[in-house]
Amino acid sequence: MRKLLLTTLCFCVGMHIYAGQVSGGSSDSTLRKTIGQYFLIGTTLNGRQIMGTDKEGCEIAASQFNAISPEGCMKIKAIHPEENRYDFTEADRFVAFGEKHHQAIIGHTLIWHAALPDWFCTDREGKDVSPEVLKKRMKQHISTVVGRYKGRIKGWDVVNEAFADDGTYRNSPFYRILGEEFIPLAFQYAHEADPDVELYYNDFNLYLTPKREAIIRVVKELQRRNLRIDAVGMQGHLWQGSPTVESVERAIVDLAKINVEVMVTELDLTALPAPKKDLGGEAWADFEYDASIDPYRNGLPAEVEARWTGHMLSFFKLFLKHKDVITRVTLWGVSDGDSWRNGWPVRGRVDYPLLFDRNHQPKPVVDCIIKETSTKR
Ligand code: G3I
Repeated sequence: MRKLLLTTLCFCVGMHIYAGQVSGGSSDSTLRKTIGQYFLIGTTLNGRQIMGTDKEGCEIAASQFNAISPEGCMKIKAIHPEENRYDFTEADRFVAFGEKHHQAIIGHTLIWHAALPDWFCTDREGKDVSPEVLKKRMKQHISTVVGRYKGRIKGWDVVNEAFADDGTYRNSPFYRILGEEFIPLAFQYAHEADPDVELYYNDFNLYLTPKREAIIRVVKELQRRNLRIDAVGMQGHLWQGSPTVESVERAIVDLAKINVEVMVTELDLTALPAPKKDLGGEAWADFEYDASIDPYRNGLPAEVEARWTGHMLSFFKLFLKHKDVITRVTLWGVSDGDSWRNGWPVRGRVDYPLLFDRNHQPKPVVDCIIKETSTKR
């Protein structure tokens, strides 16, 4: 395996150098012109990119990707911070960026227990509101936000992370107050606000069978009620040890059987040791800093980068193998310095999880992906 990874990298790195020489420092091919022809290849935009202060990041986002997702500006806490106040400043600029660069624009996310302002599910005394009040607030939020961008957004992550890894419902305020109904209600409200927009359920750790089966059950229930659901988003926050390509492939194959598209919605691959197994993208995780789990503060050793490249490439080979059902792969950030994984699940680390490095240069894996796309199709 080790020999294979190094061979793969040597070949790809050779390509990287060759491409640089041939086209004067940067390959003429881009991700959006190559793999972006088989499925949408996307990235998130953070506040600095949306407001235009990260010019190099904007240039990469515009030239390399044909889909964009908002890292934070469309979450409830950002876009609807108070019951009678919306703030569309960043969301409007985000949508305008996508339209300017002819990209598929993804809305993320309408209903999520995190990035949720206190007022949304509680009354003035801080107690859970009644089911009627919560339904009214969900309907008002969803119809206002989805309605504002009607006809301009390709699809919405309607509900994000409703399940625990064991397949039970997460004890979110939405579940506590409305039970299982909160998911069909959210999809119904989104469809009523824009009948033409695609609707997705988004979560992490779908390689865990109990969680995947719970999600498949809820998708089938939405379909039984004739509620629109176009895709399931598998977030793709990868670790060195897990999930394996095989376990992710099992998830893709299972999801393909229930007539939904599969989207890899938040792809990143940490180069760092995990403080705990199966953390997926669990927002609450916050482990104590220790230098022993932050080994590459001054850069990745060549062999570690070779292993990381081979590992990330193995997932892109999987996505290309299933391009008939995978319709989007989105990286959760433009370049390594942007990544939330520098601060999660341990604050203050230096990580290398994305396709572009801290100097906004394409890593060798970009040429490997382009090469893999052009030769294998
Ligand atoms: O904007 C404020 C800033 O004003 C303040 O000074 C600063 C100090 O705390 O916080 C800033 O907000 C931060 C926000 O990102 C914007 O940078 C929040 O604290 C921080 O919690 C938030 O983290 C985001 C997290 O979702 C929670 O919303 C991450 O950047 C983002 O990558 C992460 O993404 C989620 C997906 O939406 C869903 N799947 C899991 C994934 C990782 O948790």
